[in-house]
Amino acid sequence: MNLFDVYPIYNITPVKAGGCYVYDEKNTAYLDLYGGHGVISIGHTHETYVKAINGQLSKIAFYSNSILNPLQEALAEKLGKISGCENYRLFLCNSGAEANENALKMASFHTGRKRVIAFDNAFHGRTSAAVAVTDNPAINAALNRQQATTFLPLNEIGLVENEIKKGDVCAVIIEGIQGVGGLDEGTTEFFRALETLCKKEQVVLILDEIQSGYGRSGKFFAFQHHGISPDIITTAKGMGNGFPVGGVLISDQFTAKHGMLGTTFGGNHLACAAALSVIEVIEKENLMDHVKMVSARFIEKAREIPQVKRIKGRGLMLGMEFDFEVAALRKELIYEKHIFTGAASNKKLLRILPPLNISSAQLDYFLDSLKQVLESADKKVQHV
Ligand SMILES: Cc1ncc(COP(=O)(O)O)c(C=O)c1O
Repeated sequence: MNLFDVYPIYNITPVKAGGCYVYDEKNTAYLDLYGGHGVISIGHTHETYVKAINGQLSKIAFYSNSILNPLQEALAEKLGKISGCENYRLFLCNSGAEANENALKMASFHTGRKRVIAFDNAFHGRTSAAVAVTDNPAINAALNRQQATTFLPLNEIGLVENEIKKGDVCAVIIEGIQGVGGLDEGTTEFFRALETLCKKEQVVLILDEIQSGYGRSGKFFAFQHHGISPDIITTAKGMGNGFPVGGVLISDQFTAKHGMLGTTFGGNHLACAAALSVIEVIEKENLMDHVKMVSARFIEKAREIPQVKRIKGRGLMLGMEFDFEVAALRKELIYEKHIFTGAASNKKLLRILPPLNISSAQLDYFLDSLKQVLESADKKVQHV
């Protein structure tokens, strides 16, 4: 059987990884500034993480959600503490899209309404309701387009208000910082006005922190830079450092009913062990402070590169914008300098999502390599 060919692929085969590096079959080290779409939070094969998963595997890896699983309660408690969201309740699932599906479903159950407001360039996943609120017609099939969604520009609170006044909106869904779309974000004024408006009109405010959460922005959740309290928060990616796990944090205005949400695999013992070890490392290694420190230094140095026209994002969720498309630059970085970086819908943007414990020296190495690639590209242009 062949694979269903849906992914454009780089011709590299990582066979092992450690910290901020992945290694191919010839033992060539690649500096990972992308973490496989912002997933690697505490570094590849972190000792604490490996030990936790191995230890759990030899005890019990899985049983369904019809038994008691104290690991889920421990995870909810630890996540509540580290995020400062102790008054939310946690529903565990397996991926980002699944977290958003459940969040949107909760909003619709709660309000009895069905239209959702999302934002231009938003990415919320590829399944039913999640893809319907994703601003990319190419990945929405006719089936998904049945869903009632209205896309609006970020930071235009008047437009949001006009739509909500129509009375059929159940939720507003917004990323803490846009990932796939290209690192745009709402202003503090916009987030605060959105919170006030949603509360007043009893519309559910869903913060998608799947990429921007888990310390990546320098705070546990990116919305915490704006001092708001969303009704529902979704999380995945960095939560399991590669182990598939997602979560929906649900505020206390929602009433839980048996059977309302559910999943076979979500919250299994292994996933909880992985997620608990991630929180342990973020705490022990003080990763949120580390992110702030290395990010500030990185941004300062990156600003000195003349070809970099703009730096977007926060913490270690950054975008470097050029005045040319970056596909060729990414190829050179990967094949010549052995550095993984990411792309965005904005083709001129290089996306940087390294493990949160990356060192300043590793980031300097990237910037030096980037300068070399840019200089040699400039020389080639001069010779033409
Ligand atoms: C902000 C955001 N939401 C949701 C998703 C979907 O997550 P998953 O691919 O785990 O379904 C992504 C994935 O890139 C994302 O960046």
